[in-house]
Amino acid sequence: MRVLAEMELGRDRRRAGLCALAGLACLAMAILVLVPASAPAQKNEAAAQVADSDAPSTVNDPATLKAGKKVFAVHCSRCHGLTALGSLGTSGAGPNLRDAEWLHGSSYQDILRIVNEGVSGKTMNSWKRTLGTERVEQVVAYVYSIRFTD
Ligand code: HEC
Repeated sequence: MRVLAEMELGRDRRRAGLCALAGLACLAMAILVLVPASAPAQKNEAAAQVADSDAPSTVNDPATLKAGKKVFAVHCSRCHGLTALGSLGTSGAGPNLRDAEWLHGSSYQDILRIVNEGVSGKTMNSWKRTLGTERVEQVVAYVYSIRFTD
């Protein structure tokens, strides 16, 4: 019963990302699943929070992500590709930003640091001055949101 409930919970969690908009339905489902398995559920939630604790809530904000996608198209796509798959870019091959391989780390803070500071000796510039804080945060939220999707 408990194992079954944990499996249900795992499935529910994966589904949760997909149906963020159908929040109410998910909440109802989550309550049904969480009630009989409240102890393991608390443990899993704590683990999820640790994994994402370095990312601000803007990474889930649709308006921020939409703005970030535009910044990416204008300033980043020529090297990283319009869909961030890397080699499709038209100048200076920037790496794929959707896969699981990260040269400089994949956490929010890692991505923020690289975009702000650039990589010396590479075509990846510091974008801090060109974009300013707000647009950097938007584009970093966007990149963060598409990691591990390829
Ligand atoms: C002129 C080409 C170019 C442009 C424009 C460019 N990048 Fe890059 N980017 C690169 C290259 C090349 C690297 C790999 C650096 C290295 O080898 O360490 C890179 C690396 C990165 C990384 C680290 C990837 C990893 O695997 O750790 C991130 C994140 C990133 N770029 C984001 C951006 C964002 C966001 C923009 C737009 C604001 C942007 N880049 C614009 C060329 C570019």
